[in-house]
Amino acid sequence: MLTSAVFASLFLLASARPWKRDLFIEPVTDCSRLPSYDNDTKMAGPWTIKVDSCYNETATGGLCSIEGFESGNDITRQREDTPNTIEHGFITIVSDNNNIKTQLRCNGLLNTIEGYVLSGPGEGALNWHALGIDHHPSTGRLVWGKPDAEPVQAYRHYHNGELVDGLFLGSNNQTNWSVHSAGRDVSITDMKPYWVPRLMIPETSIRDNEFKTLIRIDGS
Ligand SMILES: *[C@@H]1O[C@H](CO)[C@@H](O)[C@H](O)[C@H]1NC(C)=O
Ligand SMILES: *[C@@H]1O[C@H](CO)[C@@H](O)[C@H](O)[C@H]1NC(C)=O
Ligand SMILES: *[C@@H]1O[C@H](CO)[C@@H](O)[C@H](O)[C@H]1NC(C)=O
Ligand SMILES: *[C@@H]1O[C@H](CO)[C@@H](O)[C@H](O)[C@H]1NC(C)=O
Repeated sequence: MLTSAVFASLFLLASARPWKRDLFIEPVTDCSRLPSYDNDTKMAGPWTIKVDSCYNETATGGLCSIEGFESGNDITRQREDTPNTIEHGFITIVSDNNNIKTQLRCNGLLNTIEGYVLSGPGEGALNWHALGIDHHPSTGRLVWGKPDAEPVQAYRHYHNGELVDGLFLGSNNQTNWSVHSAGRDVSITDMKPYWVPRLMIPETSIRDNEFKTLIRIDGS
């Protein structure tokens, strides 16, 4: 009885001060507030993005083996695609931090976050493409070349009103990701295995062998 009364009053206190509750996030829409901004080119970056605060509930201390691992990329092909042309792909997390990384930047001329990814005819060539998120509970991958994807941006986090170090990637005020191994799939960039980050929305349920994480802009 006593404990439930205490809990009830704590709950009332918490809901009376919503800004004091555990997490508050603030969108950072201006590229000039991101690392390595160049006022002449209006570009921030290039930088990688990396796994940050990843949680492995079965590991001692919750530490993930891929904490700090940076971005890579791979391509996707669909039946209706033009043969021999790379038209879309997605950002991955490398399986070994010595593997080839993929750079991102914030393009202040277009106000978009872009990835430097293989695209175009044949083997493809590295080009900058706008990145977006497919807000769907079963996907949520960070993709390029998909016209209906929604924009991604950086966010600041506040815990109990205190600013948290770092800038985190998200979309539509969501910054929680999950990450899972792509298994035997290898990336076209280096033929190495990789991990797949997915942005979580409230309807997303975490699957077996998926780990909750944030995705942080390196250097932030
Ligand atoms: C940034 O560049 C603009 C011109 O594009 C200039 O007017 C402005 O003073 C520059 N700002 C800084 C902080 O250098
Ligand atoms: C999570 O922890 C388990 C048990 O220690 C380990 O086998 C697995 O490789 C870990 N995975 C990650 C991503 O840290
Ligand atoms: C995101 O949160 C900010 C306040 O932090 C709010 O102004 C904005 O409308 C929200 N955007 C979306 C898409 O929910
Ligand atoms: C992330 O998930 C936690 C629960 O694990 C939740 O409290 C928080 O509101 C979520 N934050 C965002 C920005 O999606």
